[in-house]
Amino acid sequence: MSSATVAANKTGPITALPLSDATRARFARETAKYPADQKQSAVMGCLAILQQEQGWVSPEGELAVAQYLDMPPMAVHEVATFYNMYNQQPVGRYKITVCTNLPCQLRGGAKALQALEQKLGIVDGETTPDGRFTLQHCECLGACADAPVLLVNDRAMCSFMDDQKLDELVDGLKAEVRK
Ligand code: FES
Repeated sequence: MSSATVAANKTGPITALPLSDATRARFARETAKYPADQKQSAVMGCLAILQQEQGWVSPEGELAVAQYLDMPPMAVHEVATFYNMYNQQPVGRYKITVCTNLPCQLRGGAKALQALEQKLGIVDGETTPDGRFTLQHCECLGACADAPVLLVNDRAMCSFMDDQKLDELVDGLKAEVRK
């Protein structure tokens, strides 16, 4: 087994994603933020770069990060699966993540998720067949006072998402896709 093939999944050994020079340069900028003997601290940054470039964090990508940072693959996997922002599978152009934690639940979080399921024709965890939208629930986004809240593509926070605002959001994103 080559040194690049060190982990296994359900279907057998996996091979590390080959990293381009450009990706390695970006990884190097992340690791440079930390002392040389603590480069593992860059794991979140490197996973984020990988996701930016690939659209998700594949097992092969996790392995590439592990090898780059000299970390056990399982340690990288634990980080990649702990944080909701890392996609474990390819997602649509717009990933909508709805908070269903208790404070949001009390103010319509589940209702917002259900409304989006109906508007998009998919259920929690699915992607529309045209690849435009992925819908998923998440834990607290730290904006409980604005409940119910959701995130678009892990960056744009949308607050007080009543039915009208959900309609506006979906219509606006669909219009973006058509551009
Ligand atoms: S519970 Fe939804 S943001 Fe905190």
